[in-house]
Amino acid sequence: MFTRRQFVQLCLKGMAAYSLSPLIIPRLAQALEAMGEKPLVLYMEANTCAGNVFSLLNTLNPSLRDLLFESLDIRYSNTLMTAQGEKALDILMETVEEGNYIVMVEGTIPTRGDGYYGTFALLGEKEITHLEMIRYIGSKAKTVIAVGTCAAFGGPFAAHPNPSHSLPVSKVLNRKVINVPGCPVHPDWIVGTLSHVILFGDPPLGVHNRPLLFYGENIHERCPRRQMYEKSIFARHPGEEGCLYLIGCKGPVTYSDCPLRQWIGLHNSWPVEANTPCIGCVNADFPDKSMPFFQHLPQVGVGGVNTTAQKFAGAAAGATALGIGAHFLATTFRGRLKMKLKGQLRSHQKKKGEKDE
Ligand code: SF4
Ligand code: F3S
Repeated sequence: MFTRRQFVQLCLKGMAAYSLSPLIIPRLAQALEAMGEKPLVLYMEANTCAGNVFSLLNTLNPSLRDLLFESLDIRYSNTLMTAQGEKALDILMETVEEGNYIVMVEGTIPTRGDGYYGTFALLGEKEITHLEMIRYIGSKAKTVIAVGTCAAFGGPFAAHPNPSHSLPVSKVLNRKVINVPGCPVHPDWIVGTLSHVILFGDPPLGVHNRPLLFYGENIHERCPRRQMYEKSIFARHPGEEGCLYLIGCKGPVTYSDCPLRQWIGLHNSWPVEANTPCIGCVNADFPDKSMPFFQHLPQVGVGGVNTTAQKFAGAAAGATALGIGAHFLATTFRGRLKMKLKGQLRSHQKKKGEKDE
């Protein structure tokens, strides 16, 4: 068994080792063996593109498969299980009766017309909606984890005008939900959160109930292009090197460990390294308030920040956006950015205007 402190160190170490799973899984398997039973897990997919379960499976490390099939008792998953129809429904209902399970939910829950925009199963003539099913299963679960931005906050499936009136999991359940956002979610964020829940209980959560272990750091603070931002070396188009702030980078208002953990196993990279702005996919107001994706955040006026940053702050990432506001004020008054950034913004807006004409 390992201590929580060791676990946290392993999670951080995972950032340098391509994936958290090979570091965690052997220890997790040992710990579970010591506990004497495999934790029961249900993985429910509601209104979703299935991007998160595929992100989880899209790992170069086969030990993640071991985690799924050997260390955990995953009783239900649309994507992973072979049982279908009534057989699958029976397994699900028996597990709910048994109790003591963790439920992971991916996707939003449509609520319009009593939820009939999302049907989970047919029971004889009766349609069981996602709304009914998630409420039933969620209310009896030991822990509920919302996987991906749609389940956590609504995301693309609840984006304006949201014709199905879809809601995040926390809005249809009257209980605590651990939110693990991302569009899609990083496999380490799921494996790490689930492991923490099993071994040590709920992880410490920050704003919007996200585990601080993975969502505690501001992207802008950790970005390798931060020096370029400070020196006002800005890219004008996606694909160019330079800080991507002027072409819409939401790193300053986004909290996740992407710059350090990175994505895609051995081919480690992340949006900014691939020369495209962070679009804030883990944020509570993604994608509505992240759009237009290639438009910069606050418009910098004389002596500070104006309405765009505050609009962003009010909508979702209050503390974060206020952070960049304060940062901008400080840098502006220090005179580091003021002249250069104003000039660059003016020419950027002029060029944009010419293009629009
Ligand atoms: Fe990096 Fe984006 Fe911040 Fe520029 S604005 S330093 S690209 S996070
Ligand atoms: Fe998403 Fe931004 Fe990370 S777009 S994947 S939070 S760099």
